[in-house]
Amino acid sequence: MQPSWEIKGFLEANNNRLDINGVSAIELAEKYGTPLFVFSESRIKHNIERLKRAENFIDCKLKVCYAAKANSNMAILRTVKNADCDLEVNSGGELWKAVQVGFKGEQIIFNGTSKEIWEIENAIKAEIYAIQVDSLFELSLIEETARRLKKRANVSLRLVPEIETNTHSGLQTALLTSKFGMMPDEALSAFHQYKDSNFLNLCGVHLHIGSQNPESAPYAEAFKTLFENLVQIYEETEIKLSHINLGGGFPVNYLRDASHKNFFPEAEREMFAADFEPSDAIENAWKIVKESAEASNAAHLLENITLLLEPGRSVISDAGICLTTVRNKKERPVDEINSIIQDKIDSRNKKENFEEGTSFGISSLEISLANPNIDRDTWLLTDAGFNILLSMETYKWYYHLISAERASEPHDYPYKLAGPLCDGGDVYFDIESNRGSRLPAYRLLPENVQPNEILALLNCGAYSIAQMFQYNGRFLPTVVLTKENGEVELIRKRDDFEDLITNDIW
Ligand SMILES: Cc1ncc(COP(=O)(O)O)c(C=O)c1O
Repeated sequence: MQPSWEIKGFLEANNNRLDINGVSAIELAEKYGTPLFVFSESRIKHNIERLKRAENFIDCKLKVCYAAKANSNMAILRTVKNADCDLEVNSGGELWKAVQVGFKGEQIIFNGTSKEIWEIENAIKAEIYAIQVDSLFELSLIEETARRLKKRANVSLRLVPEIETNTHSGLQTALLTSKFGMMPDEALSAFHQYKDSNFLNLCGVHLHIGSQNPESAPYAEAFKTLFENLVQIYEETEIKLSHINLGGGFPVNYLRDASHKNFFPEAEREMFAADFEPSDAIENAWKIVKESAEASNAAHLLENITLLLEPGRSVISDAGICLTTVRNKKERPVDEINSIIQDKIDSRNKKENFEEGTSFGISSLEISLANPNIDRDTWLLTDAGFNILLSMETYKWYYHLISAERASEPHDYPYKLAGPLCDGGDVYFDIESNRGSRLPAYRLLPENVQPNEILALLNCGAYSIAQMFQYNGRFLPTVVLTKENGEVELIRKRDDFEDLITNDIW
């Protein structure tokens, strides 16, 4: 039987070993060492084409701007550019990288909540498509800067209209309690104030509802909100906006291999297993807005509009695999552990008066490990920790794990998995918490995994190497790209000792 994580032509089991675009993951691990990130050029292109398909379902132009924050390795940016995709940056640093890679000004949009003058200056000088403005104060800084440079800045105002999605609370970005954007009435006042400005071209409105949004309906709500603002702005100021930016946030199905699905609480399961076609969401949103525009005689405002999207995760997440080696192994008696955990649950339930049967701080698998054949917890300690996959710690993110050496064998033996960092939080599960467990307590792999076996964490391309750091003096990893011509390109070399102290002065 084919493993359900397989993606034909990209991720495949071949003679029991994992192949990535036909290249042996084991050979890559042997050649470059682990942890090793492997990206797929063809998968990145495939993902961009999938998003661009939305253009077939709307009557306006579509501009897809890959969110560089998800992964801004230079070769990844180059791949995105070669796939005819534009770019969203979040700092002067990312803007600089974009220009080095060869993105033209009109291909770049610039987000961010705390832009500095030098960053605004560089964005204006580069004549980018739009600076997305986070507040009225920031808009005044952009106006002053453009005036000083004797240039006109293209700006789009970021709205925060209170749209909730069922994603992780840390990934919600369109709530009034979030730090992003301005209220729609503030934006309207800005259009009044600057409508005759020689230094600001007020050309769009923007909204990003959050990342890994499990449902498509909020996109229709967001589009409707943006359009209502566009109409009001036109009616009150006669400014006809040239673009609407619907942000990113399209989900990736992290549970395509469903073997661990039952060990998630329901809400987490739905978020991690989210799966809808971005083009369906856009088609639906467009239809709803078009109908209401026609009903209110405002359809002419959609005629020359460009719709922008800013996807990050949905472009790069499943295109990246992290190969890691088991470096250590140990065992602990299950009975003792389960009775300790059960005692804790009992005393907490008593204290907090939970209904009987409520299980907190423990996954169902943990309890079900009363399996008499497994009387010991087996711990596998890998070389991939949260210093290279930060979301595992900050958001308790889930990356599906398989054996790259025994890819076709049944993955049915439970292990406790942890990384190499000297930090109790560097584990692949949710350490018992008062809020209950977000993640499975165990990972299923083939029986008898031993030190030196190569494992593969899937869907690791987004918000991983973009956020990595050298905690514990760990070398940042090698990154390679499997190319469409069959070659493997080294796109980041592993740190060496000198890299650990590059900027220290001593
Ligand atoms: C403003 C903005 N646009 C786009 C994105 C990309 O989101 P995602 O990677 O979920 O597509 C983000 C990230 O959260 C963001 O903050």
